Amino acid sequence: MKTTIIATLLCLFVLCNAQSETNKPDVMTLNFALSLEYLGRALYRQFNQTFSVADAQAAGYTAYDYSQIVEIGLDEIQHVERLQQVIPTLGGEFIQPCTYNFPFGNNFNAFLNLSRTVENTCVGALDGGIAMLNTPALFTAAATFATVEARHASFLNLITGLVPFPSAFDTPLNATQVLAIASPLFASCPSYNNECFGILNTNATVCSGHGSCAYKVCTCDAGFTGPDCSSKATQAPKCQ
Ligand SMILES: *[C@@H]1O[C@H](CO)[C@@H](O)[C@H](O)[C@H]1NC(C)=O
Ligand SMILES: *[C@@H]1O[C@H](CO)[C@@H](O)[C@H](O)[C@H]1NC(C)=O
Ligand SMILES: *[C@@H]1O[C@H](CO)[C@@H](O)[C@H](O)[C@H]1NC(C)=O
Ligand SMILES: *[C@@H]1O[C@H](CO)[C@@H](O)[C@H](O)[C@H]1NC(C)=O
Repeated sequence: MKTTIIATLLCLFVLCNAQSETNKPDVMTLNFALSLEYLGRALYRQFNQTFSVADAQAAGYTAYDYSQIVEIGLDEIQHVERLQQVIPTLGGEFIQPCTYNFPFGNNFNAFLNLSRTVENTCVGALDGGIAMLNTPALFTAAATFATVEARHASFLNLITGLVPFPSAFDTPLNATQVLAIASPLFASCPSYNNECFGILNTNATVCSGHGSCAYKVCTCDAGFTGPDCSSKATQAPKCQ
């Protein structure tokens, strides 16, 4: 704790541009959000490729409903782009998209079911994720993602006959809860996502052997610091 404060102050004073200890959890949180935005983007891409307006109408929905679903997909595209812009400003690397398993086939109702689950889960994930952020400038930015995902969720709830705003408070979800819902939708992910500085997170030498690697971030063991955990925590952080 004390070390973190000292490292942060040193970074502020010497204008440290490398990924700071403060930014690391934010990079992880934003990469986690990005993993869901990629999933959303792919879901609506598959929607595009599978269904026409006529398919929506045959399932009892309107051309307007169809157009709004396309619009949701456009929002997810922009969310991906924004996160890809922001993560490098924190000194981090962004993860790459995975391949996905969306088991809706040609069934429009099954698509709606799935997209409704995904959007509602994203709302909980973002509500939970905001509390993990360190950088105040990101709080409002993250809230604007969460409220837009909530609009998507409300729309999908409404057209599928559920209450658009089912309670006074949304339930924040932690990563474990989100993954319990989302994991079956991931087919395979590039090994790049599981590497830090080019070393797989299962390799004992990852993070200089002094930390663990997840979401492109080395979380250092006590006593170590630096982007790749190669510095002793008592030393000044490595600033490049
Ligand atoms: C869906 O198709 C529209 C064009 O009809 C396109 O503008 C949009 O980018 C596509 N959405 C996704 C998520 O690929
Ligand atoms: C939609 O999901 C519900 C459970 O959440 C399930 O009972 C129903 O069969 C699903 N409908 C389709 C078309 O997949
Ligand atoms: C996530 O939330 C669940 C339910 O509240 C809790 O049981 C679990 O310990 C939490 N997991 C983490 C990693 O915080
Ligand atoms: C672990 O990473 C090192 C590089 O630091 C590499 O030389 C080695 O081959 C890797 N080990 C395995 C089992 O992949």
